[in-house]
Amino acid sequence: MNARTAVVTGGASGIGAATVARFLDDGWTVVAADLNDASGERLLAEHDGAAKDGRLLFARCDVAEEEDIQAAIDAAVGAGGHLDCLVNNAGVGGAFGPVTEISVEDWDYTFAVLSRAVFLGIKHAARVMRGQPDGGSIVNVASIAALAGDAGPQSYSAAKASVLHMSRVFATELGPDRIRVNCVCPGVIATPLNPAASEEFEGSPLAAIQPLPYVGRPEHLAGAIAFLAGPDSTFITGQYLAVDGGVEAAGPRLGSILGTDPRSVGLVGVNRGSTGRKATVHRKVTP
Ligand SMILES: NC(=O)c1ccc[n+]([C@@H]2O[C@H](COP(=O)([O-])OP(=O)(O)OC[C@H]3O[C@@H](n4cnc5c(N)ncnc54)[C@H](O)[C@@H]3O)[C@@H](O)[C@H]2O)c1
Repeated sequence: MNARTAVVTGGASGIGAATVARFLDDGWTVVAADLNDASGERLLAEHDGAAKDGRLLFARCDVAEEEDIQAAIDAAVGAGGHLDCLVNNAGVGGAFGPVTEISVEDWDYTFAVLSRAVFLGIKHAARVMRGQPDGGSIVNVASIAALAGDAGPQSYSAAKASVLHMSRVFATELGPDRIRVNCVCPGVIATPLNPAASEEFEGSPLAAIQPLPYVGRPEHLAGAIAFLAGPDSTFITGQYLAVDGGVEAAGPRLGSILGTDPRSVGLVGVNRGSTGRKATVHRKVTP
């Protein structure tokens, strides 16, 4: 069988670059599609051997532009003869500030890069994958901001929620063509887009909301994306996978606000509420 072929948008930095590296390690042929030529050149230099072998191509691409997306996908088909995976990953922070001051232009830019681009990617990947006996896999990179109202700027959060829902609606439409569409929701990941996550983790505000005691890295996402791209996830479609160190699972961390956090409170027992029965309480025996 020919090597599997993928397009990774925003493939020249952060999560995209780690995904490109993972695909190359796994023997795939990859087109990294990105707007930033300098980062693209760095990526090619970093994977010099794969670039020389024609297994890594850089396509300068603005994901908000239909012709650019189409060209990146056609480049992958030209290189590999088929398209097995599209990773819709490119992203920016987008518009921020009070709603009364956000301009329509900045709002539209955010949605063009984060939302329209995902529609365009799915449209052109489906065009190719539909004709393939094994269909293909599309992985969209959303965010935990798609799941909650205070995990990112408003425009970013709303656009990422559309990415999550596109994963469901297009999984439904394209399932009969064996095209799977899934989504990853990164938490706070140390990349150039998120400088705060690149600082010292221990004792940071992030450490207070995230159960796992280490910072998220682009490679953590690359592993999840490789799983959703490949044969181990053949029966999974229309799903999201939060890759967030447990932030979504923990929710608003009320335990630390209400003083019921089991790790910090020295008591064990059972509260029987307003039943008229007494609570039982004793001191914790384990440290
Ligand atoms: N880093 C985080 O904490 C985090 C958390 C949740 C979600 N995400 C999402 O992960 C994805 C990757 O982000 P990252 O953290 O690796 O950021 P990054 O800045 O390291 O990489 C993003 C890449 O996208 C490219 N890009 C931006 N606009 C583009 C456009 N119009 N056309 C083509 N390429 C474009 C950039 O040039 C850059 O190379 C984004 O969708 C982001 O929203 C990141």
